[in-house]
Amino acid sequence: MPNFENKKFLTDSRLADRVADIHSFIVVDFITRAKAMEAAGKSIVNLAVGEPDFETPSPIVKAAMETLKVNSIRYGPSLGSDALREKISDWYETKYGVDLSPGRVAVTSGSSAGLLLVMGVLLSPKDEVIMADPGYPCNRHIVRAMEGRTRSVPVGPNTGYQLTADLIAEHWTDRTVAAIVASPSNPTGTLISHEEMKKICSFVESKSGSLIVDEIYHGLTFGLDAKTVLEITQNVFVINSFSKYFGMTGWRLGWIVAPELFINAIEKLAQNLYISNSDIAQQAALAAFDPKTIEMAEGNRKKYQQQREFLLPRLKNLGFIIPIDPQGAFYIYSDCSAFTGDSYSFCLDVLENVGVAIAPGIDFGNYRAKEHVRFSYTKPINVLKEGLDRLESYLKR
Ligand SMILES: Cc1ncc(COP(=O)(O)O)c(C=O)c1O
Repeated sequence: MPNFENKKFLTDSRLADRVADIHSFIVVDFITRAKAMEAAGKSIVNLAVGEPDFETPSPIVKAAMETLKVNSIRYGPSLGSDALREKISDWYETKYGVDLSPGRVAVTSGSSAGLLLVMGVLLSPKDEVIMADPGYPCNRHIVRAMEGRTRSVPVGPNTGYQLTADLIAEHWTDRTVAAIVASPSNPTGTLISHEEMKKICSFVESKSGSLIVDEIYHGLTFGLDAKTVLEITQNVFVINSFSKYFGMTGWRLGWIVAPELFINAIEKLAQNLYISNSDIAQQAALAAFDPKTIEMAEGNRKKYQQQREFLLPRLKNLGFIIPIDPQGAFYIYSDCSAFTGDSYSFCLDVLENVGVAIAPGIDFGNYRAKEHVRFSYTKPINVLKEGLDRLESYLKR
């Protein structure tokens, strides 16, 4: 059985310590394995993947093609093109009624680069960042890459799998400089209520710390609209992306909204780390906020909702425990303790035996991670059904 955990390289003494500390992104490893199996002729149902199954909306693609016709693809300003920063700030007005200066927006190469830049401007060696366990795996590795330390806080159904102001207060130490939350969250799909977010903001502010709020799954909520933390305070770092709601994962484009004081520092790091963002992707993304694009994105949101409504009861019927119905993103974080105490081996076995890829909990932290798996419901219902039929036959064996 292949083992993706901490694979390769670890024996070479020339490698920096951080490489040993940074785990591979296990979901990505699983997806790579699933694709290799598919290429070898095996039929695979991929419920591990964390990206939209829909094509990038056509107005965005058309804008990219027009850009190519002019054929002047160049380096641009490190904080992103003025036109796109302006469009993003307009979006906050249209969507949330928040008046935001474009000068506080930094366009980044995916929100991954946004996270890297924010950690880069906030962390000195050994500074601590509080985050939820389970949570987005790369956060703790980005903190490590920037020589900071992660304080992982176990969260469960009692707090909606989210940090609360009380939990942050309980784990804040003299070394803590920041807390990061994601609402909706990956892997749990749960949100932080606006009331709780207010408490979190005021606690972090009282400690003169920094709050980072990952809003990358905004627009992908079901039965409610997520509010931005910018409705509460301007003293916050917001992370967002064109990847999910706008279906642009491969274009690698995201953004940060930062307190004004930090923009020059972010610019300086971006200049040095990658000069500027993809010019073509930025030109294309100007069309992301067009009414036609939004209409298409909203249509996709409705399909996700139907897919969620198909998958959720079916997983519960199979015996997965899901104490809180997720309200956003496109994930269902499920307790699989009825079937296994080792989610990693379970996911490998399911993949090898019935060709269904699901993500093991151990990618997202430690807390009860071996008893959880994450299902993505980005695929159409017929594919979800095939995956669940196969899983059912596996579990009945
Ligand atoms: C919570 C969260 N933040 C950030 C990212 C990074 O996405 P991207 O770099 O494509 O914007 C992801 C990707 O899955 C995510 O789930």
